[in-house]
Amino acid sequence: MSTPLVGIVMGSDSDWPIMKACAETLKQFGVPFEAKVLSAHRTPDQALEYAAGASGRGMKVLIGAAGGAAHLAGVLAAKTELPVLAVPMPSKHLGGFDSLLAMVQMPAGIPVATFAIGEAGATNAALFAVSMLALSDAALAQKLSGFRRKQTEKVLAKTLPEV
Ligand code: RP5
Repeated sequence: MSTPLVGIVMGSDSDWPIMKACAETLKQFGVPFEAKVLSAHRTPDQALEYAAGASGRGMKVLIGAAGGAAHLAGVLAAKTELPVLAVPMPSKHLGGFDSLLAMVQMPAGIPVATFAIGEAGATNAALFAVSMLALSDAALAQKLSGFRRKQTEKVLAKTLPEV
């Protein structure tokens, strides 16, 4: 199996139904990735250790997904200089607005790129990782162009019902 280039880390296995979209998108582009559960609060030592070792293992991008007091992506970013993308999970009581704010309001010096709440964010974090990797991978850049072209064609082919 090839070395993962992207690490998808989520705070709980309850995030997987949403983050599956991220994994599926990377798979669709043939980008090697690994997905695992690590929590900023429940497994802080292991989350820090994972981020600290990611670059040395050949990884290029980390994607952190969490809900509620969603500190995971920020904690990962604190221990690596790799780009860290954050996906806010919809939460039970506040609909994910809490996750979004917890992720997006990083202090200057430790950047995290935060995406939309839920599946759109999960998909777009993967596409953004693909864009970054495509900067130094011509074959991947071509796949991305093909994906965008097909998406455009699909939208333009849509019709609306008569009124
Ligand atoms: C966060 O708390 C997780 O990322 C998840 O979104 C949320 C709830 O986790 P569980 O209680 O379902 O494990 O850390």
